[in-house]
Amino acid sequence: MTVFVDEIKKEQIQNIERFEAAPAVDRAFVEKAIQHVLAKIDQSLEVFTDKFPDSNSENLVYKPIENVEWTTSFWTGMLWLAYEYTGDEKYRKVAEIQIDSFKERLEKRIEVDHHDLGFLYTLSCVSAYKLTGNEEAKSIAIQAADLLITRYHDKAGIIQAWGDLNDPAQRGRMIIDCNMNLPLLYWASEVTGKTIYREIAESHIEQAAKYIVRQDASTFHTYYMDPETGKPLYGNTHQGYADDSCWARGQAWGIYGFPLSYHYTQDWSLIELSKKLTNYYLNRLPEDQICYWDLIFTDGEEERDSSAAAITACGLLEMTKHMPLTDPEKKVYENAALVMMQSLYENYTTDIQSEANGILKHAVYYKAGGRGVDESCIWGDYYYFEALIRLVKDWKMYW
Ligand code: GLY
Repeated sequence: MTVFVDEIKKEQIQNIERFEAAPAVDRAFVEKAIQHVLAKIDQSLEVFTDKFPDSNSENLVYKPIENVEWTTSFWTGMLWLAYEYTGDEKYRKVAEIQIDSFKERLEKRIEVDHHDLGFLYTLSCVSAYKLTGNEEAKSIAIQAADLLITRYHDKAGIIQAWGDLNDPAQRGRMIIDCNMNLPLLYWASEVTGKTIYREIAESHIEQAAKYIVRQDASTFHTYYMDPETGKPLYGNTHQGYADDSCWARGQAWGIYGFPLSYHYTQDWSLIELSKKLTNYYLNRLPEDQICYWDLIFTDGEEERDSSAAAITACGLLEMTKHMPLTDPEKKVYENAALVMMQSLYENYTTDIQSEANGILKHAVYYKAGGRGVDESCIWGDYYYFEALIRLVKDWKMYW
């Protein structure tokens, strides 16, 4: 695997004093924040046992849905985090009920025609296997990896994001979000000894680094490759403001996704790349350090995307874990993660007494589509909780 990142620009972090000192995010702070998360999970545990929260809230309330969205596993992942933190069997019980639902979904091929199999089966089943040794969950997750690699175009070296492989609108289209789905493949190689999963993941991350990341270290949301010739075609957006703007959550998927591939490949250039994406991101934050939904906006009335901030915090914590103490950027990025977590807790969490059943407010799912705008998004809740867990223990990733 060869990832060339030298030509990609690394901006200097502006106003670096924002991140020079650690904010007051001590253990007591984090435990208080976790108590809020657990209270909100408990509020919904019964409703979301046989059903799942929708991808986004409406008026801050997630409706119950069947296991059909790309996002259902974020709730199950939160249950595993809650089980891991508290040891309380009530969370494990519900998570295990949900594994049956993920099994059925895969067997019946219900809404699995996309790359998000990684999110779905890592957080529901790989987590179960890693935490409890659940062999059935392991087998389901391997089957999900088998399905995910059918989306690979070998000439282009990429996993197609959405839809039928012959759909002209989607054929050969990769997206930055897919970085997060590759751990399922690396893991499948580890547990089966078959190298094919890992080879596909490495090929995809290499192509994502080469084509989705722009020269200025911003990212396209999506990028088309010609599956017949392997030729790179063009980038465009689906959820961002414009084709040439930088969708904040896409950047966040990159900031976290490249270090996840580093974890499995040990290719340091992936960390260097994530640093560059991070600096681009940090330089476009407003005063409270929580990004707008697209990084083209740096002040004004546009909505924030708290979910992108939570993903970024996890990405920074993963990235800095691998950086040596001698690296002067390590503390800066760690502090940046803490500053974001403090801001999220203090300004973006739902009222514990309210009927809001999410954790974070002020996220944006799909602005142009009018879906989940200034609402809670279930992945934002998951990543916020994951970041908190990372701050209280040496967390062994589900990814
Ligand atoms: N992966 C889709 C999204 O971030 O909205």
